[in-house]
Amino acid sequence: MAQVTRKSWEAAFAKLEASLKKLSPSKAKDLAALDRLRVALLGRSGTLTELLKSLKDLSIEERRELGPKAQELRAALEAAFDARKTALEAQADDDAAAENALDLTLPPHVPPRGRVHPLTSTLEEMTRILSLMGFSWAEGPLVESDDNNFTKLNIPEHHPARGMFDTFYLKDSPLLMRTHTSPVQIRTMESTRPPLRIISPGRVFRHEAVDATHSAVFHQVEGLYIDKGVSFADLKGTLDVFMQKLFGAKTRTRFRPSYFPFTEPSAEVDVSCLFCESKGCSICKNSGWIELLGAGVVHPNVLSAVGYDPEVWSGFAFGIGVERIAMLRLGVSDIRAFYENDLRFLKQFDENLV
Ligand code: DAH
Repeated sequence: MAQVTRKSWEAAFAKLEASLKKLSPSKAKDLAALDRLRVALLGRSGTLTELLKSLKDLSIEERRELGPKAQELRAALEAAFDARKTALEAQADDDAAAENALDLTLPPHVPPRGRVHPLTSTLEEMTRILSLMGFSWAEGPLVESDDNNFTKLNIPEHHPARGMFDTFYLKDSPLLMRTHTSPVQIRTMESTRPPLRIISPGRVFRHEAVDATHSAVFHQVEGLYIDKGVSFADLKGTLDVFMQKLFGAKTRTRFRPSYFPFTEPSAEVDVSCLFCESKGCSICKNSGWIELLGAGVVHPNVLSAVGYDPEVWSGFAFGIGVERIAMLRLGVSDIRAFYENDLRFLKQFDENLV
C-alpha cells in the first residue's frame, strides 16, 4: 500500500463522502442491497474501516484532527443503516400482510342447501299422521306376481276389472310392475296373524300416456286395518281424522258408492274443496268437492285368499295417490313438474309446509 499522507487521506475521505451522495443507506432498495453497502463501507475491509485504520500512519496532530471526522461519519452511517433496516423490515411485513390479507367485507361462501323433495315431504306428512293413528309401515317389491297384484285381490284372470289397470308385463316372465300398492295387503296378511293395522307407501306403474294429471310412474299410500268387528263406520272415522290432520280442521269428507273388486262396499272419497271452502271454483269444477281416494270394507274373498276366516275377521282398506295430495297441498297443476328436476320449481318448497 502506498504511503498514507494527510493529503492522500483527505482525498480518499472526500471521495468517500462524494460517493455517499449516490450510494447512501437511505437509498438501498432492499435488505440485501443495504447489507452489501454496509459491508462495502463498514465491513472488515470496508472503505471507511480502511480509512480509520490508515489514520495510524499519520502524525498524532493529524490523527486528532481527522480522526473525529471519520468517527463522526461512521456513527452517522451506522445510524443511517439502522434506520433504513428498520424501515425496510417494516415494509416487508406490510407487504406480507397485504399478500395474506383477509378481506372481511367479502360475503361468505354459502354452499347450496339441499331440501326434501315435495313428494317426499308430502309422503312423510301422510305417514306421520297415520302412524300416530296406530298404523305401522309395511313394504313390498315393485315387481309383483300376477297373483298378488290381481288374483288374490279378487281380480281373477279374464275378469273385466283388470281393464281398470294398464299393466306393464315383464318380457318372458309371469311377473309385472305393480299397478297399485294393494298387493302389500296380500303380502302382509299372508305373513302376519290378525289383528293388523298397516300403511304401505310406495311407487306404482301404469302403462298410460303422460299428461298434466297422469304419470306412468307415481306413488300411493295403501292402508289396511283388520280386526274383529271392523266396520265401514271405522273407515269413515279414520279417513275423516286423517283428512282433517292433512288439510285442516275444517275439512269434511264425502263417501260416494263406487266399485273396487277387493272391497265391498266400496267408496270414492271426496274432501270439501280446500280452495273455495266448498263454494264452488274452477279446481273443484264448481262442485265444492275434490275426489281424492278409493276405499272400502275388505272383500271376504280377499280374506279367504290369504287364509283369514271372513266370519271372524273384517277390515277396511284405502289407497291414496301421493302426487294428487301434493298437488292439492302445494297448488301444483301439472304432475310432470314433480319429476323434471327443475330446481326453479323444487326450490319453492321448504320442508315446513302448511
Ligand atoms: N288400488 C286402488 C287403485 O290403485 C286404490 C284402492 C281402492 C285401494 C280401494 C284400496 C281400496 O285399498 O280399498 O286404484
